[in-house]
Amino acid sequence: MVLKDWIRVSLSDHKNTIDEGMCGISGCITEGRAVAGILYRSLKRLEYRGYDSAGMATISNGKLYVKKDQGKIDEVNERLNFNEMPGSIGIAHTRWATHGAPSKVNAHPHVDCSGMLAVVHNGVIENFMELKRELLDLNHRFVSKTDTEVVAHLLEENLKRGGDFLSAFINAIKRLDGSYALAAVYVKEPDKILVARQDMPILIGVGDGSMFVASDAAAFIEETNRAVVLQNGEVAVITAKSYDIYRVKDGTKVARSPIVLDWTVEMAEKQGFPHYTLKEIFEQPLTLKSALRLQDAYVDLLTEFLDRGERIFLLAAGTSYHACLAASYMFSKLARLTTFPVVASEFVDNYGHSIDIDTVILAVSQSGETADVLSALEFARLRAATILGITNVVGSTLTRVSRAYLLQNAGPEIGVAATKTFTSQLIVLAQLALRLAKKRGKVAQYEMDEFRDRLYEIPDIVSRVLDEVKVPVQGLAKKYAGEKFFMFLGRGISTATAFEGRLKVMELSYIPCIAYAAGESKHGPISLVEEGTPAFFVCPNDSTRKAILGNIEEMKARGARIITVGSKDDEELMEISDDYIGMPDVHELLSPIVYVLPFQLLAYYLAVEKGLDPDKPRNLAKSVTVL
Ligand code: F6R
Repeated sequence: MVLKDWIRVSLSDHKNTIDEGMCGISGCITEGRAVAGILYRSLKRLEYRGYDSAGMATISNGKLYVKKDQGKIDEVNERLNFNEMPGSIGIAHTRWATHGAPSKVNAHPHVDCSGMLAVVHNGVIENFMELKRELLDLNHRFVSKTDTEVVAHLLEENLKRGGDFLSAFINAIKRLDGSYALAAVYVKEPDKILVARQDMPILIGVGDGSMFVASDAAAFIEETNRAVVLQNGEVAVITAKSYDIYRVKDGTKVARSPIVLDWTVEMAEKQGFPHYTLKEIFEQPLTLKSALRLQDAYVDLLTEFLDRGERIFLLAAGTSYHACLAASYMFSKLARLTTFPVVASEFVDNYGHSIDIDTVILAVSQSGETADVLSALEFARLRAATILGITNVVGSTLTRVSRAYLLQNAGPEIGVAATKTFTSQLIVLAQLALRLAKKRGKVAQYEMDEFRDRLYEIPDIVSRVLDEVKVPVQGLAKKYAGEKFFMFLGRGISTATAFEGRLKVMELSYIPCIAYAAGESKHGPISLVEEGTPAFFVCPNDSTRKAILGNIEEMKARGARIITVGSKDDEELMEISDDYIGMPDVHELLSPIVYVLPFQLLAYYLAVEKGLDPDKPRNLAKSVTVL
């Protein structure tokens, strides 16, 4: 290629590519059953992974059919009618662009020049420029700006040189640098879907006379609950009746039996609620109960590692970071253990130089795939730190990089905003704190017993609170939906609740919010208060109550409207508040699990009031798999 062409490719492509970081892929092959409807439903389940464009490819009678476009899955379906696509084999994709505009040409599946094969991809192919140049020199015609399209042309090129689809696929995979979950189909071998995995999740669903592949089991749970997790460096050949896994490196066959997922179809559906987010908020009594059923041996193992560490970091992003913040109070107050909660993206800069073999990192990640978390862990792992995990996703990358991990058992969370997974993280962390307290023997037995008793009451308390506060919080949402700004303040462990309240309200209602440890509010935020500024206070009847009363008075004196979430019986607080949500008394260290509920509901109802989609807040994706 002449230099001019090279510049054209590199400049135009750099602006628009490497954008496949957060997508959902799916595939299905059956013994004669049409797959289009199945794939469409699977895409709907994967929509939380991305929803700016969608597409599908099927094969029927020696012909490849491809439909794709920009827009949410239903919008695309309305225009294109996926259900009409013929064939009992197909692959599909839902995309969320991180760079570059979502568009029809950039939507997946991507096809080769001859239109004989199609590929869907989640991840980033780092050396795509080099491959693209090579393929352009071989006269391949590219139509999109994506890194994925090189895979289609690479496959085509390999097939041209002889060999079957699998060998062409393996040879193509060997050329790729970066991360990928890939699925491909080829008209000349219409009896198989080929898949590959490197650093992006992909599961095989094993049904009866039909097989599935997907980024996430939610995509096929309706059809089967038996799943095989593909590991890094593996490819699989999936036919309607079988799956065979091979290692890319040496071609050896890998034997792996399916695991049975105890996620019911109902768990992945809305169960009559208007939105997943509301369903998931009301599911919390159940998810908390199931998170109380941890396997003792693993709790002991994590406790052992945490107790041995010299420096302990609690590492996470977003909502999971707020769970870590709350946990740092639990570990300190109950187990007398100092831990450092840290935002994953800051970890290396802040603490990278002091990581060594005595460092223990407890990473908390609902998805187990958050890139900031995984990259911080990789850094720490190379310095011999011990990695522990808490996650909601079996087979996620976090489960593979951790020495030991605990599962939240919250079931799939479809709403983009974390709700039930936050409280399940908290209750898992509380159990760890309790076990650590026992091991370290630094608090009185009666205190531990009391904590344990209060812990097991939590699911019932949560159930009652949800019923009691739903209507009053709906009222608050109506009253405050027109506001331009909110403040959230708490003290002690309630600082974490205030932070999480702010995040929920901000991301679902798009109303700008700040949150502070209330003691800090006089060091700056108070300057924002003017007549009528709504200030939310988290004020359980605990050791922080007296101090926070002072902070409330400070704000009130400057004209703030005080909205308090506090104890049902606290008349003094009620008196000074403009609006009040009464809560039952709970153990101080468990209060975030209960006190966050009104804020989750507030965020949800504010979004509804404002006509927004609470399940899919703009610009956000459920699983943030790019740095
Ligand atoms: C907020 C939210 C995000 C996630 C964050 C970390 O509602 O969902 O802030 O908490 O992206 O995700 P995980 O826990 O999967 O690592």
